[in-house]
Amino acid sequence: MRKVILVGLIAAMVVAVAAMAAEMPAKVTIKECATTKGAVEFDHKLHVARAKACVDCHHTMKDLTAENVGTMAVESCGKCHIKPEKATTPTCGGKTPKDNAYHLGCIPCHKEAKAAKADSKAPTMCTGCHAKTGA
Ligand code: HEC
Ligand code: HEC
Ligand code: HEC
Ligand code: HEC
Repeated sequence: MRKVILVGLIAAMVVAVAAMAAEMPAKVTIKECATTKGAVEFDHKLHVARAKACVDCHHTMKDLTAENVGTMAVESCGKCHIKPEKATTPTCGGKTPKDNAYHLGCIPCHKEAKAAKADSKAPTMCTGCHAKTGA
């Protein structure tokens, strides 16, 4: 009897982990913070190959890899950056390269890519990421 309960418990735990676990998206429409500029189309698959490690972007998850992602609960950036706990943490609603968590995370690598390769397609101008330019 005890064994049956134990097996049941383990099965329930596996289901719980699977429900929490994330799958790596191929493409993401980043829109949690959209107000004036609209959504940004982001090719996640290509960017995984462009970065050294997942933690380069998912900076709160230092052990995240393509292999263990199925066992991890990957939180959205917006969860912490829409309304940050601390006033010093950048939001994802900021308008300039220095006051927006995405701009701070995305643009420096694009600048490096452009510096290394003049014909790089890494966008550094607003319209390269924001298709909708007006308010
Ligand atoms: C490398 C890509 C990239 C570049 C270049 C970029 N942004 Fe953004 N920006 C983003 C992403 C991603 C978000 C978050 C979008 C969301 O969640 O809706 C964002 C959010 C914003 C927001 C807040 C959300 C909104 O809809 O109002 C503003 C304002 C904004 N960007 C303005 C600019 C301006 C102005 C420039 C040029 C100086 C610029 N961005 C350049 C990627 C970029
Ligand atoms: C260049 C930056 C970047 C790299 C590198 C990167 N990601 Fe992401 N990832 C993102 C962004 C941006 C999102 C969209 C998050 C959002 O909408 O808030 C995302 C979303 C995800 C999601 C979906 C989360 C959800 O909200 O459902 C998973 C899972 C994920 N990434 C796993 C990984 C794994 C595993 C790696 C490494 C193999 C990785 N990522 C590398 C930027 C990156
Ligand atoms: C669990 C909460 C949490 C999640 C999820 C999260 N962040 Fe952050 N982020 C923070 C906090 C808090 C800071 C402030 C610095 C610190 O304490 O690490 C920060 C800082 C940053 C910075 C550094 C800003 C600077 O001043 O240079 C960038 C860039 C950034 N986050 C981008 C992202 C992106 C992109 C994602 C999604 C892929 C993300 N964050 C997901 C909490 C989070
Ligand atoms: C580790 C470096 C790195 C980071 C971080 C990074 N990118 Fe990129 N991105 C690149 C490179 C390199 C290219 C261009 C490759 C080429 O020339 O074909 C690129 C290209 C792009 C493009 C053009 C379409 C495509 O995918 O080829 C968009 C849009 C883009 N990035 C958005 C973003 C956004 C939004 C973020 C932040 C969430 C981000 N990138 C973070 C390296 C990066």
